[in-house]
Amino acid sequence: MEAGMDERAKTVVADIAVVGCGHVGLVVASCFATLGHRVTAIDVDAARVASIRSGVSPIYEPGLDALLRQALDSGRLEVVEGTPDALRAEFVFLAVGTPPSTGGASDLRAVRDAVTALAPVLRPDAVIVNKSTVPIGTGDLVAQMAKHFGAPGLAVVSNPEFLQEGTAIDNFMRPDRVVLGSSDARARERVAALFEPLGAPMVLTDLRTAEMIKYASNAFLATKVSFVNEMSSICEVVGADIAEVARGMGFDERIGRQYLRAGIGWGGSCFPKDVAALEHTASTFGAHPQLLRHVIEINREQRRRVLGKVREALGTLEGRRILVLGAAFKPHTDDIRESPALEVADLMQLAGAEVLVHDPHVRQEAVSAAFPSLALADDLLTAAAGADALVLATEWPEFVDLPLDDLAAVMRRRLIVDGRNVLDPATVRGAGFAYRCIGRPALEGDPPSTAPNWRDAEVDTDTLGVGTPVGRR
Ligand SMILES: NC(=O)c1ccc[n+]([C@@H]2O[C@H](COP(=O)([O-])OP(=O)(O)OC[C@H]3O[C@@H](n4cnc5c(N)ncnc54)[C@H](O)[C@@H]3O)[C@@H](O)[C@H]2O)c1
Repeated sequence: MEAGMDERAKTVVADIAVVGCGHVGLVVASCFATLGHRVTAIDVDAARVASIRSGVSPIYEPGLDALLRQALDSGRLEVVEGTPDALRAEFVFLAVGTPPSTGGASDLRAVRDAVTALAPVLRPDAVIVNKSTVPIGTGDLVAQMAKHFGAPGLAVVSNPEFLQEGTAIDNFMRPDRVVLGSSDARARERVAALFEPLGAPMVLTDLRTAEMIKYASNAFLATKVSFVNEMSSICEVVGADIAEVARGMGFDERIGRQYLRAGIGWGGSCFPKDVAALEHTASTFGAHPQLLRHVIEINREQRRRVLGKVREALGTLEGRRILVLGAAFKPHTDDIRESPALEVADLMQLAGAEVLVHDPHVRQEAVSAAFPSLALADDLLTAAAGADALVLATEWPEFVDLPLDDLAAVMRRRLIVDGRNVLDPATVRGAGFAYRCIGRPALEGDPPSTAPNWRDAEVDTDTLGVGTPVGRR
């Protein structure tokens, strides 16, 4: 048996450190402890550490509070603020933030700070496993830094994280794949042994390829969403229904069903910064990432399209009262980083509308930090009272199942703009609302479309290959 296979055949109970207790780090630390490892979770944020020590997750993630308490009660998870004097961990997982900085580049300060602080206190045989999403070449930089700051023999493995907020625990425990990149095959195998019990396919490769796999994956998913959004604007002008188009496409296994829902576009802590960072890295290295630039621009345009729909339906945004449903960038998380919902709310406010936002899990403090003038309302019906329009921006389950009759009774005008295409048009219209969504034709009685209306257009039957336009519902 080759040395690497030997490493993996061992059932390991390891000493693991996880640096950064955010959406990724806290899930990773709690899951590793649940798998039986001894875990030290480290963060520089004192309030965050205190909350985690008391068994309360500082972030909303379904199932995480229970998993965290179980890990703490088992005695296998300890939580440390700042840099410990010594670290017994064999594996040090970096899960610190890598936010965007100007020009799209990733801000690597947290990675640098963590490596600088920890290198002197690590065991000589420790492996640094990088889970943070970092520009290609960062793993090499981490190795150089570790050498410089007193840990010359340290191995570095890239292990990009693919979990999604809202389903993070399941994503960690049942990953589609585990990617491990390193020039040190033995270190890579030692890390592979940790993931062996999860039974997922493993991609063992070099550092830069692993780093690139993460960016390419997110860029592809963002491209898929921007693609379907571009199709949705074509659907609006030709009189087709994007929901049906996507359904018809999704049966094709080569295409797949996921990430084919038209809407106000992608956001969150990953796609915007990762696509921008890849575009930036590519440009820095002299490549021409033309597709990525268009993917980003189409996404921006989606926000403006929603705004245009509300404006046209109401005649103006000036002085109109709008309730935006959703602040989180997607349901089942309280993360508002690059949230399309808040960007649309902000744009409408800038255009003179009086905007209120309602979200089941996001707190006012978080919103105020990013958008000081946006107000959150606790109660849906109170917030909807006197509203001229309701814009569904995050598809929380409670928004998919709205109390339409109650809303109709309290709103000033009955208009719903469904930015996520999740409501049933017939039900909404049946409750007396005008209904607008993305990429589906309007009905008689609905406010006019922002796009040129295909029904009024001269139909070039030669080009279409059909006699009369179809698709009106
Ligand atoms: N959030 C996601 O869904 C997701 C998914 C896959 C990958 N990622 C990537 O994982 C990384 C972490 O993302 P996140 O969403 O968990 O970030 P986050 O901002 O939620 O958490 C980062 C944590 O790191 C801590 N930190 C910062 N500097 C530190 C230091 N020097 N030492 C110790 N702790 C420090 C912060 O206090 C914070 O608690 C990012 O690179 C991100 O791109 C995120």
